[in-house]
Formats: sequence, C-alpha cells, structure tokens
Amino acid sequence: MKNPQHNERSDNGDVAAGHVRIFDTTLRDGEQTPGFSMDRRAKLRMAQMLEALGVDVLEAGFPQASPDDFAAVAQIAGALQHTTACALARCVPGDIDSAGRALEHARRSRIHVFLSTSPLHREHKLGMSKQQVLDAAVAGVERAAKLAHEVEFSAEDAMRTEPEFLAEVFSAAAAAGASTLNAPDTVGYMTPAEIAERFAWLLANVRRGPHVVFSSHCHNDLGLAVANSLAAVGAGARQVECTINGVGERAGNASLEEVVMAMKVRGAWFGTDTRIDTRKLYPASRLLSELTGQNVQRNKAIVGENAFAHESGIHQHGMLKHRGTYEIMRPEDVGIAETRLVLGKHSGRAALRQRLEALGHAPDDAAMDDIFARFKALADRKREIHDDDLDALARGRDPDAAGPWRLTRLDTSAHLGAGASATVKLVHDDGHAVAEAALGDGPVDAVLRAMERATDTALQLTRFQVQAVGEGGDAQGEARLTARHRDRDWNGHGVSTDIVEAAAQAALAIVNRIAQQQATSTPSPRSTKAQGATA
Ligand code: KIV
Ligand code: ZN
Repeated sequence: MKNPQHNERSDNGDVAAGHVRIFDTTLRDGEQTPGFSMDRRAKLRMAQMLEALGVDVLEAGFPQASPDDFAAVAQIAGALQHTTACALARCVPGDIDSAGRALEHARRSRIHVFLSTSPLHREHKLGMSKQQVLDAAVAGVERAAKLAHEVEFSAEDAMRTEPEFLAEVFSAAAAAGASTLNAPDTVGYMTPAEIAERFAWLLANVRRGPHVVFSSHCHNDLGLAVANSLAAVGAGARQVECTINGVGERAGNASLEEVVMAMKVRGAWFGTDTRIDTRKLYPASRLLSELTGQNVQRNKAIVGENAFAHESGIHQHGMLKHRGTYEIMRPEDVGIAETRLVLGKHSGRAALRQRLEALGHAPDDAAMDDIFARFKALADRKREIHDDDLDALARGRDPDAAGPWRLTRLDTSAHLGAGASATVKLVHDDGHAVAEAALGDGPVDAVLRAMERATDTALQLTRFQVQAVGEGGDAQGEARLTARHRDRDWNGHGVSTDIVEAAAQAALAIVNRIAQQQATSTPSPRSTKAQGATA
C-alpha cells in the first residue's frame, strides 16, 4: 500500500522525485557530544567508511571550532572521491571563511550555514530582531556561495519558529543562493503528523527555484527522530540529516540505518529510496563503536546484537519453518552474517536439534530427550548457551565441570608503555604441575599466552568483555572471553574483584573445556547415540 499523504511534487530539487539524499552528520552533530569525540585518524577512517556506504553529503565538522577540527575537515574533504564534503559555519564571516578554506581541496564542496530563527532563540540566545536574523542569513549565504560549490541554509530551531517568518527567511536564503533549505527540529519537539503538516506548508509557501531541496534534521528527545524524518519525507523533504547509530546532541539524531531501512523495506509505501549500500550498515555501525568505544544498545533496530536474534521457542520454531514469520528483512541485507537462534531457557527442541546437527551431532530421540532435559537445567543457570556447552551436553559431559587443570598461582605486572607479563602455575588432575611465564600486549593477553604455553593449547582471543557486577568500589568484575582453537570458538567466564583474575578464570575455563573435549573426542560426534543417558 502507498502512503496517501505522500507528496509527489517533482519541483523539490534537482534530484529524481523519489530519491532522498542522505546527509550524514556523524562526524559533526555526533562527534560534538559527550563520549563520541574522535581523533583525526579515526575521523578519516569513519569518513572513508561513510563514503563506501554511499552517503550523498558528509558533514565532516565545524572548522572554526578548533585548529584540529579545521585540519580534520580539510583532510576528509581532500580524501573524498565522489561524496560532497560539507563544513558547518555560523552566519558570521570568520566561520564561513574558515569553512571555505577547509573545503578548498574538495572535489564537491558544501558550506552549511545556520542561524536560529525561533522567538526563544532570537530573544534569549542571539538578542536579534527578525530583520537582523533575516539580514544575517542572507549575508551568510551570499558569502558562503562564493567559497563552495553549494550552500545549505539551516534555520536552527525551525520547528518552534513562526511558520510565516520561517518561510520568509527560507525564501530569502534561496534567493541568496542556498540550494538546500534545512528545517531542523533542534530540540526534538515535534510529532510525525505535525512535522508532515509543517513541511507540506513550507513546500507550498517558500519561494524558490526548481533546484532547491528541503531537508529534515530531527533530534530524538522524545524518541521520534526517525518517525519525524520519515514523515518529513512523506511530505516532500528530499534530504534527511542523520547519523550512524543515531548519535548526536542529547538523545541523538535520527539514526541513518533506521531511516534508510524503513525506506527500503517499506519502499512501496514511501515511494522513495536512497543510494545507500545497505550491506555496509552493520560494518559502519561497528566501526563507529570501535572508534568511540561506545557500545550500541543490544535491542537497537537494524544493528543491535538482538536485531536478528531469536531465543523464544515459538519464534525459533517459526523461523526454522520460514524466516518471514518473524523477520521483515534479511540480516545479510544490512551486512549481518546470519540470523542467530540464541539458545537459552526459552528455546525449544527444534532449535536445539538444529544447532546440534550443525555441530556434527546426530542424537536419536532417546539421546535428544536426555540432552534437552540437561540443556533446560543448564539454561536455568546460564544466561546464554554456547556451542561448546552444547558439544559437552551432546557428549554426555557436564559443561560446568571443573578440571582437569587448576590454577594455583597467578602473577601479573603491567609495564607502562611496554606491555605486560604474567606467570601462571597450573596443576593437572593427574598430579603434574606446570609453571609458565609470558609477555603480552596487556595483562590479559599475557595470562592467555602463559596458559597457552602451560597447557600446550593454541588460543586466539576473539572477544574479551568485562563488566561490573554490583556497584561501588568493591563491585566484582565479570570477564567473558571467547578464543579460537582449531577453527572453533570456545567461551569462558570468570568473576572476581580483580578483573585480571576474572579473565584468568575465564581463560582457565576455556583450556579445561578444550582438554575435556579432547578427552572425549572419540567416537566421532556423528555417531552420537544416547551418550548423555549413559555418561
Ligand atoms: O540541531 C540543529 O539545529 C543543528 C543545526 C546546526 C543544523 O544541528
Ligand atoms: Zn542537530
């Protein structure tokens, strides 16, 4: 079905009627917020990823903010091959000139000038009359037009501005040379129906040439940034300003991946599309997390860890019959390798059997009854069940069983700027003891290397997570490690007031699991019968 309110006016810019430009502001609105600052190298890496993703315009920063911001914008502008490089500037000559200089080497450049227009901002922030705002906007656009290929004008706090005055400022900015008119919901105040009405009104009342594009820029203070952006598109906006993972001032901006996927999945409804290569959405989200050290919430739409994960037995059963039962898009379309059927206490036999078979086990019905009962008991104790737990269950072992190794000594020391060292002493159930020392990038790496040597088990660390359990200075640290050994991932977990010790326990759990698996690795898993019942 098609959106009956969809505005098909073709006079909204030089873009094809259905094409919506994606203007990414991760490196400006996103980067200027607490916890998301990046150094120049990180910004360049992110910019290259955003270009590969296919954003139309990349706002690289605010050059007048600092010499480093200037240098970052200049470096990105020179590196972009086909994406328009954009720099932000207030409507003051110093800002605009600096933006122009930073964009000098861009193949395609845009200066984004902004000025508040709402009564609240005019009176309390700027101390300017309507006429002064109008004059400054025109002067700013005219100056910017001499320094870049194109100019965008933003009326900050547009959505709380008198519509007639906003239309007057936009008309003047367009006459002065702005080819994009951005109407931000700076404080995230609007609702979808309201913003749609406002954009439709602006499209009908702003005097402009045929090449001028209307743009939305929505903040998420009420959790409506994506809904409001899409409503603006429905009303005729043909540029959406958004950020990877929805980062940005306060509660953030509209999330790029959500806006883009809504238009892709519900293309028939919106009648619009973007140029984004959606298979790069997840890699872009991961890169931003990596560069800023900020995790994405687990249940975040499109890119969260749970976005394509199913634990409930009913959902897993449906998914195994037909993925369309509980998924409206394919994980591979957003760059996620596959749907994950997470095995936990809500899972059923169908998903358990499927995973066991994928691991090479072929339990008959009696074995399956036994494994399933032990699986449920284990799932009551553990939050998530991993492949190595399942393997142990299928082989009739207790996945929580300790041994054969015990850790009897652990010494670590970190050396400022020069890595770390660790010594471990392990005692085997058969009585023999081994002590080994190793160097590593950090104490956890050094412990892992020492355990590797002591047990003669090659380990490649693929995941290391630490989180506090409880609050305050005496909170325990919980360490979760995943290490690769002979093409398989092995998981271990440890808890201690000392996080290195917690990591050592987690590493010990891994070497023990591998040792246990090796001790029971014959007969081959394919011939698994009711082992659980007899073990
Ligand atoms: O939220 C806002 O109004 C802005 C402008 C600078 C576009 O970020
Ligand atoms: Zn903003």
